[in-house]
Amino acid sequence: MKTYKIAAIPADGIGPEVIAAGLQALETLARRDGGFTVDVTHFDWGSDYYKKHGEMMPANGTDQLKPFDAIFFGAVGAPDVPDHITLWGLRLPICQGFDQYANVRPTKILPGIKSPLENVGPGDLDWVIVRENSEGEYSGHGGRAHRGLPEEVGTEVAIFTRVGVTRIMRYAFKLAQSRPRKLLTVVTKSNAQRHGMVMWDEIAAEVSREFPDVKWDKMLVDAMTVRMTLKPKSLDTIVATNLHADILSDLAGALAGSLGVAPTANIDPERRYPSMFEPIHGSAFDITGKGIANPVATFWTAAQMLEHLGEPQAARRLMDAVEQVSGKGIMTPDIGGTANTQEVTDAVCEAIRASNI
Ligand code: IPM
Ligand code: MG
Repeated sequence: MKTYKIAAIPADGIGPEVIAAGLQALETLARRDGGFTVDVTHFDWGSDYYKKHGEMMPANGTDQLKPFDAIFFGAVGAPDVPDHITLWGLRLPICQGFDQYANVRPTKILPGIKSPLENVGPGDLDWVIVRENSEGEYSGHGGRAHRGLPEEVGTEVAIFTRVGVTRIMRYAFKLAQSRPRKLLTVVTKSNAQRHGMVMWDEIAAEVSREFPDVKWDKMLVDAMTVRMTLKPKSLDTIVATNLHADILSDLAGALAGSLGVAPTANIDPERRYPSMFEPIHGSAFDITGKGIANPVATFWTAAQMLEHLGEPQAARRLMDAVEQVSGKGIMTPDIGGTANTQEVTDAVCEAIRASNI
C-alpha cells in the first residue's frame, strides 16, 4: 500500500472550506481504491499567521515542505493585508523555490454548466493551457526611478531564456502527445515583440522535431482570443508565456461557464520538489464562512494531484463523480445551484463510493 504525504495549506478566505472538502473526497477515494492512503499534515500559514508573526510562513517554510509528495493549497488574500505581501510571501516563493515551471490549467464545460457561447456544450471545449510559470513577464525584473517626478520611469522586463522556453515547450509537446488529438497551439506575439517572442517560435520549431506525431500551429495572442471564442473545437493543448497564459486562462474559464470551477497545478516536471495544486478562484471574502464555497475547482485540482502522484484511476474516478454530480444539477449558487459546499461534497463522495469505473 502506498502512502502519499500531502502538505495542506488552506490559508485564507474560503481556502479552509474548499480544502476540507477536497480532503474528504481524497480520503473517500483512498478507501474506495484500497491501493493507497493519504497522510495529511496541515500548515496554518497565510494572512492570520502573518498578523501574528509578521510573515506569511516561517523563514524555513519551503524546507518544511520539501519532504512532502505534494502540496494542496487553498487560497491567499485578505482584505486587510496588501496583495503583494500575501502573494510574494507564500504562494510565489513556493512556486519559484520549488521550480514549479509548468502551470497546467485544464478547461472543459462540465455537464450541467452552460457556456456563454451559443451551441457549445460539453465535449466542444476541452483544452489544457500550459503556462510558463518561472520567468517571462513575471520575472520581477525592472525598477522605478525619479519617483513622483514628471520624468519618473518604470520598467518591467520580460525575461525569456533558452532553458526556460525549451523545457516548457517540451512539457507542452509531451502533454499534447498524451492526449487523443495530439494537437498543440503555440501562442506568442512575435510580430510586435521581435526578440524573446521570436525565440519562442524558433524553439517551438526545434522541439517539435522531437514529437513528429504532434500536429502544432502558432497563434498570435490577440488572434488567439478570437479563435478561442469563435472556434473552440479547433483547439486542444495550448502553450503560452506566463502573462499571455494568465490572460487566456481567465478567458478559457469564462467560456467554459465559470472561473469558479477552474483548477491549476504548479508542477516541477523533474520531480526534484513537491508540486502544488490549487483552485484558481482565490479567497472570496464575500462568501467566507457561509458554507457555500464551490468545492469543484478543488476536486478538479485534487484529480490533477492524483494524476501527478501516479494514481490516474483514482483521478478519473474523482472527475467522473464530479461530472455526475454537476450533471444532476447539484451545485453551489455561484454556478446557478442551490446546494451548499457540504451537500456537493457529500454527493461527490457518494458517487465515488458507488463508482465502478
Ligand atoms: C492566476 C492569478 C495570479 C497570477 C495572480 C493572483 C497574481 O491571476 O493564478 O492566474 O496572475 O498568476
Ligand atoms: Mg490569472
